[in-house]
Amino acid sequence: MAAERTPMDEARPIPADWLSLREPADAQARQITRADVSDLVGTYRPEVIIDVGSGTGAGARWVASCLDGDERWVLIDHDQALLGTAAAGLRRAGVEAEITEVLDDLSCLGDVLDEVRAEGGSALVITSALLDLLTEPQLADLLDVVAVRRVPLIAALTVTGGLVAEPSDPVDELIREAFDAHQRHGDRLGPDAVERTQQLALARGIPVRAVPTPWRLSASASAQQTELMARLLRDRAEAAGEELRHRDDRRGLTTVQDWLQRRLHQLDLGALHLQIDHTDLFLPAATHVYPKSVQNPSSIGTGFPTDFG
Ligand SMILES: C[S@@+](CC[C@H](N)C(=O)[O-])C[C@H]1O[C@@H](n2cnc3c(N)ncnc32)[C@H](O)[C@@H]1O
Repeated sequence: MAAERTPMDEARPIPADWLSLREPADAQARQITRADVSDLVGTYRPEVIIDVGSGTGAGARWVASCLDGDERWVLIDHDQALLGTAAAGLRRAGVEAEITEVLDDLSCLGDVLDEVRAEGGSALVITSALLDLLTEPQLADLLDVVAVRRVPLIAALTVTGGLVAEPSDPVDELIREAFDAHQRHGDRLGPDAVERTQQLALARGIPVRAVPTPWRLSASASAQQTELMARLLRDRAEAAGEELRHRDDRRGLTTVQDWLQRRLHQLDLGALHLQIDHTDLFLPAATHVYPKSVQNPSSIGTGFPTDFG
């Protein structure tokens, strides 16, 4: 019998204020990959960049800052409220070329790429902070779409579950475990997304370059960073608490609240440092697409074609 679905299994809208709060930390974390982005863009010279799960366009704005500025943009998101501000944000960041907003699920990507190709254009697909929100079938579809069409993909800022806090706290591990479990509800990949992407991409004949892009946050750095840290701590405590409530762990719930108060106090004193781990993945265009029977030996005989040229 299938397990009963709970509210935690439902995908929740991403708050716009969270996206704007994290944008400077994202941009700082991604500095290390600027040369990788330029190299990949230099290799493929895409005329169209498609940002899947664009939200308010923070990831697109960052990639735009690495480019010449001639590229056309397509922004895909299923959340109208977020997507509605993305194009204006890209304009403010200096993008003058055509920007198209597509209010749809990411499963429309194949059609969008086919339209680009029909117009004779070459494409690059980008995502940021998206892969951990996907289920494995969604991720596999995304990789099939880019592999079969031989389009490169940059998937930035996927959380890996790693968190280092200074000073450490005996309850950190309980919070991390409960938070990660919360992220996995609804069969979402959560902290497993980076590893599964690497495995599924390799199975499709796409090599992957992985670059760690952690946030390094310090309570004494700036008011904006302090605000991000406070929000992050509260969100973690809330998610961990929801997970423990789901397990009917009442003692755990009190422990989480005490942990949050200790952490917020350290933040007030300017005495807290956090490292939140992410990974950026660079997937060049597939040169040879493996048939599905090779990707998954148990499905031999599915008739998946080997020549997609
Ligand atoms: C964490 S936000 C990241 C937004 C943006 N890329 C950034 O870096 O600020 C994830 C975004 O993916 C979108 N999203 C999640 N699942 C999606 C799906 N199945 N189809 C389209 N958009 C999706 C959400 O609406 C949200 O805007």
